[in-house]
Amino acid sequence: MPEKETVLLTGGAGYIGSHIAVDLIDSGYNVVIADNFDNSSPEVIDRIEEITGVRPILYEIDVTNEEDLRQLFKENQIDSVIHLAGLKAVGESVELPLKYYSNNLNATLNLLKIMEEFGVNKIVFSSSATVYGVPETVPLTEDMPTSCTNPYGWTKLMGEQILTDAAKANEDLSVILLRYFNPVGAHKSGLIGEKPNGIPNNLMPYICDVAKGKRDHLSVFGNDYPTKDGTGVRDYIHILDLSSGHLKALEYAQDQKGVSVFNLGTGTGYSVLDIVNAFEKANNIKIPYEFTPRREGDVAECYADPKKALEILDWQAVHSLEEMCQDSWNWTQKTNS
Ligand code: WQD
Repeated sequence: MPEKETVLLTGGAGYIGSHIAVDLIDSGYNVVIADNFDNSSPEVIDRIEEITGVRPILYEIDVTNEEDLRQLFKENQIDSVIHLAGLKAVGESVELPLKYYSNNLNATLNLLKIMEEFGVNKIVFSSSATVYGVPETVPLTEDMPTSCTNPYGWTKLMGEQILTDAAKANEDLSVILLRYFNPVGAHKSGLIGEKPNGIPNNLMPYICDVAKGKRDHLSVFGNDYPTKDGTGVRDYIHILDLSSGHLKALEYAQDQKGVSVFNLGTGTGYSVLDIVNAFEKANNIKIPYEFTPRREGDVAECYADPKKALEILDWQAVHSLEEMCQDSWNWTQKTNS
C-alpha cells in the first residue's frame, strides 16, 4: 500500500463500513467517510476513534448529491474508493422499488462520474450473494449464473454491470466486486456492531434480541426446505473476515486493471438451527423458537466456494462460528442493549 493512501469509504458509518474503517486506519490508511446516517449514527464515528485513536474525516452527505460529492473530492486527495453506501433491506425494496433503484444506482453513477473528474481509478464495490438469485447448485463460484429475486438484489447486479462497463470504457479503471454472503458478529471491543432499525430482518440480530429478552422467541422461517434439518442454510461470515477481505481487495486493485469479482464467504453452510444451537452453546443462553411458514423470497441453501479469493487475494475467513455468536452477544450486551 502506497504510504498513507487516502480511501473514501461511502457508507462508512454503517455496520460493515465501520469495521472496514477500523481495519483501514489500523493498517495505516487515511480514511474519509461519506455517510448520510440513513441507517447509522454519528456516534459510530466516535467509536471508530475510540478503537483506533484516530478520527476519520466525516462528510455527512448523500452520495447521490453530485455537488456535495464533488466538494469532498476537491477537499481531499482520494486515491481509492470502497463503495458501501446504499439501501439494503430486501423486503423494503419489494415495497419501494423506485426508491431503491434511484438511490442505489444514482449513488454508483454519481460516484463514478466524480471519480472520473478527479482521476480516481480504484474502486471496491459492495455486492452481495443475492445476485445469484435461486442457486441451481451450491457451493457458489463467481462464474455461476446471476439473476435476482428482488429490487435490492437487482441494484447490486446492475451496480456490477455499470462498473463493468465503466471499466471497459476506461482502461485505467480498476474495479473489484465483492459478493458478501451473510455477515454477522462484531468487533472484539463490543463498541461497533450491527444495529438494525426496528424489528431485525436478519437472523443473528433477531437471536440477540431474544437473548436479551427484547423478544420472547425466534420464528424459524420454514422447516420444510430440502436441507439437513429442513431449515434454511446460509454462509455466515464474521464481520472481521469480511472487513479483512476489503483490505486484500484494495491491495489487489493497486496493480490490476479491469474488473475482478470475488465471493466473500467461508465456504461452510449452516442451517438456522445450527446457528441457534451454536449461539446457545457459545453464550450459555436458551433461545426459544417456533417454526413458522417460509419467508417469501428465501432460498433453501446459499453458500460460497471461496477458493478464488484465497488463490488471488490470499484471503480466507478465519473466525469461527463460536466467535460469531460470542462477538454478536458481546456487542449486544455492551452497546446495543
Ligand atoms: C438467514 C436465514 C432465514 C430471520 C439477507 C439478504 C442478503 C444480505 C444478507 C444484504 C434464512 C432465516 C431469518 C428470522 C429466520 N443482505 N431467518 N428467522 O435472507 O440469507 O440474506 O441478508 O446484502 O441480501 O437477503 O439473511 O439473516 O435474513 O436470513 O428463520 O427471524 O435465517 O429464513 O434462512 P438472508 P437473513
